[in-house]
Amino acid sequence: MTNTSPGTVAITGATGFVGSAVARHLASQGWRLRLLARPGSESRLARLECAQTVSGSLTDPDALRLLLEGADALVHCAGAVRGATRADFDRVNVCGLAALLDATALRQQLRVVHISSLAAREPQLSDYAASKQAGETLLIKRLPSTQRVVLRPPAIYGPQDRELRPLLERMARGLALVPGRHEARFSLLHVDDLAAAVGCLLAQPASWGQTHEPDDGHPDGYSWPELIAAVARVTNRPARALRVPGTLLKAIGACNEWTARLIGGAPMLNRGKARELLWPNWVALGNASLAGSGWQPQFDLDRGLRNTLDHRFHHV
Ligand SMILES: NC(=O)c1ccc[n+]([C@@H]2O[C@H](COP(=O)([O-])OP(=O)(O)OC[C@H]3O[C@@H](n4cnc5c(N)ncnc54)[C@H](OP(=O)(O)O)[C@@H]3O)[C@@H](O)[C@H]2O)c1
Repeated sequence: MTNTSPGTVAITGATGFVGSAVARHLASQGWRLRLLARPGSESRLARLECAQTVSGSLTDPDALRLLLEGADALVHCAGAVRGATRADFDRVNVCGLAALLDATALRQQLRVVHISSLAAREPQLSDYAASKQAGETLLIKRLPSTQRVVLRPPAIYGPQDRELRPLLERMARGLALVPGRHEARFSLLHVDDLAAAVGCLLAQPASWGQTHEPDDGHPDGYSWPELIAAVARVTNRPARALRVPGTLLKAIGACNEWTARLIGGAPMLNRGKARELLWPNWVALGNASLAGSGWQPQFDLDRGLRNTLDHRFHHV
């Protein structure tokens, strides 16, 4: 296969953490962007000259048709990461994807990069994980391998991250909350590296038809003590580790779910999330399968932490 020059790329989820980084990166690579944004969220789109906005959601077939009209590729970053019930996750991660695939059926040559999650490996843990696996299965069933590639990122972090960054900032202030087992291992990936991986896949379709589990290149991921040590290295301030017991995590998760059922809302920490946090192995397979794309991560953990943590935390 040959290199593909930039054309028009449709992006879902561009108002979110991952999608906004993907949009910025692809714009910098010369792609023309077509961004799906829900009414009410449009003001959160990054101001990019080469971007056209399509107002609507994944449940709006007309908006999806407009989004994909004339597009050469689609990067599907939209997803539900918070919720109280299986339906909350399936509505976006399965039904939303199905609607998008219905719209892609009208565009035979469209290439699709699907942002899944390492969680899809362990669907028994949570409604989120089960919905991500169901999404992958649907995509693989509906699109020929030459037209699709699945990325299963591990925990992604970066300056605009609302999940891991607060935990890292607390570590930088001297208190490391360890939500799970000390000995658990997990991979990490800086959001700009994930965005660059998408760019490489679009430019060089050598690794298409596969499911990739990219990471920052650190063999066998990290343990909590290793992450805490890295934050201490970057900030020159050691943190005291405080383990949050699994029973407490699960109790908070259950409380959040009941509250959401009573008064609405989409909690980040539900019982499924607690089970995910307590899972011992979130180490990605790594980057060998992506070698043909030419992508290599640029952020090791220290560089990624310096970029993510506010400057006031840095050791000078
Ligand atoms: N963050 C991580 O560590 C991580 C790790 C592995 C995989 N992932 C995957 O990466 C993807 C993006 O996650 P994120 O962290 O960027 O989440 P995020 O910041 O919450 O962004 C989610 C995006 O999806 C959009 N969206 C949600 N429901 C939608 C709908 N019905 N129609 C149209 N757009 C909708 C949101 O739009 P609004 O702005 O309108 O809400 C937002 O742009 C997800 O698929 C997630 O599973 C994330």
